Amino acid sequence: MVIDHVDKHFGELHVLRDITTTVARGEVVVVIGPSGSGKSTLCRAINRLETIDSGIISIDGHVLPSEGRELAKLRSDVGMVFQSFNLFAHKTVLENVTLAPIKVRGLSRKDAEKRAMELLERVGVANQAKKMPAQLSGGQQQRVAIARSLAMEPKLILLDEPTSALDPEMINEVLDVMVGLAKDGMTMIVVTHEMGFARKAADRVIFMADGRIEEEAAPEAFFNNPQSPRAKDFLSKILAH
Ligand SMILES: Nc1ncnc2c1ncn2[C@@H]1O[C@H](COP(=O)(O)OP(=O)(O)OP(=O)(O)O)[C@@H](O)[C@H]1O
Ligand SMILES: [Mg+2]
Repeated sequence: MVIDHVDKHFGELHVLRDITTTVARGEVVVVIGPSGSGKSTLCRAINRLETIDSGIISIDGHVLPSEGRELAKLRSDVGMVFQSFNLFAHKTVLENVTLAPIKVRGLSRKDAEKRAMELLERVGVANQAKKMPAQLSGGQQQRVAIARSLAMEPKLILLDEPTSALDPEMINEVLDVMVGLAKDGMTMIVVTHEMGFARKAADRVIFMADGRIEEEAAPEAFFNNPQSPRAKDFLSKILAH
């Protein structure tokens, strides 16, 4: 995926400033930075949930169109997992995972269910398939959300603070699933302040501040030897608590 000179404003606020980076197939990129620095907006722009003012975002050489059928197709190439689990509350776990493959990809119910059960197995919640989301713990719901995004066989998955709404004891079960995906070669962009995940699974850390990419480096280099004053300041704050 290529992000080339992307800018975006919300009214007066310049929220993405000349963002340029490339994410290779199979690469795992962790995005960190202070609140309000534009991390979620960048994820949403990649998935075209937000428009951009200028610049180009392309996946496998295809520029993301701003609307229409092509957009629906390209959007289904990008999985997205949010902080709040966003499962369909009135559908079972299994239905949550089969819905889009049946509707968008045209899979038969039987094939979609077979594949969904494999994915639920992979994230460790196959035994919850018949339950409603509200009957699951937060960690289980987030793992279902990951299975649901994988069901569309995306080329890339974006995870925006996937563990920050979870109780501490559930964070690791979700991080373990993410580490597994990374090891399996999934291309991932993960907004997270979980340094353990970044060190274990990331190929690269992008540090954003005020809508800019302030610094990018391999995790070891970034955490042990941040270059910019903003990154040093940010790391001293998050490592202090
Ligand atoms: N829909 C919107 N309309 C207007 N301003 C917005 C909108 N969404 C975000 N913003 C503003 O854009 C800036 C970047 O927001 P964004 O959510 O991308 O930050 P973030 O880095 O994800 O922060 P956090 O760590 O708190 O999640 C913030 O100043 C925010 O208030
Ligand atoms: Mg955010």
